[in-house]
Amino acid sequence: MSFLRDKLAGIKAGELIFLQVEAIAFWLVGGLPGVIGFAFRSLAYKVFFKRLRGFAWVQHGVTIVHSRRLSVGRNFGCNSGTYINAIGGITLGDYVLLGSNVTISSGKHPIDGETPPVFARPVEPQGIVVEDDVWIAAGAVILPGVTLRRGTVVGANSVVTKDTDAYGVYAGSPARKLRSRLP
Ligand SMILES: CC(C)(COP(=O)(O)OP(=O)(O)OC[C@H]1O[C@@H](n2cnc3c(N)ncnc32)[C@H](O)[C@@H]1OP(=O)(O)O)[C@@H](O)C(=O)NCCC(=O)NCCS
Repeated sequence: MSFLRDKLAGIKAGELIFLQVEAIAFWLVGGLPGVIGFAFRSLAYKVFFKRLRGFAWVQHGVTIVHSRRLSVGRNFGCNSGTYINAIGGITLGDYVLLGSNVTISSGKHPIDGETPPVFARPVEPQGIVVEDDVWIAAGAVILPGVTLRRGTVVGANSVVTKDTDAYGVYAGSPARKLRSRLP
């Protein structure tokens, strides 16, 4: 019990209830195939997200938690296997495209010191911002606290640890700038 008390420190009962209802709602619509799937997920996201402008083109098999802290712009595209955790707040602009198996998680596990075990520590929220016209390719990981500026491209399997420049193309782990998209 002391594990749960420490782990959940600062999380209100209303938040836990929201998470449970969100999990059931997204499970119900999360696997629906084809156009019906896009439509029902978009409707559910309109209800749960902090904000969703327009339609969300989200494939089946995407996991989203703490969605009431997630703001999403117009024409959001997201492929299967992607995981979005908005515990620390996430803002996605217009025309954001996420490939398959992308991870965007806005919570940090404090690691310094021996005790308590990392798993038993409360998560530190740290927001993530993804501006307009950003493409994050398959398997990339965006770390908490990072801002991806307008027009950024993140290559497959990259780990983005720092803010990016507008219209920069980044790849690798840690992600380094390859070039600019601009002439
Ligand atoms: C990031 C990306 C868009 C860059 O494309 P590009 O500008 O044409 O870059 P290039 O292919 O010319 O590669 C430039 C250099 O970066 C390296 N590089 C490219 N992508 C890389 C990646 N994801 N990780 C590590 N290095 C990468 C290349 O090996 C090359 O290195 P070199 O100069 O030492 O030979 C592309 O490589 C990529 O990752 N695309 C993702 C494809 C994908 O996942 N599609 C699924 C749909 S979401």
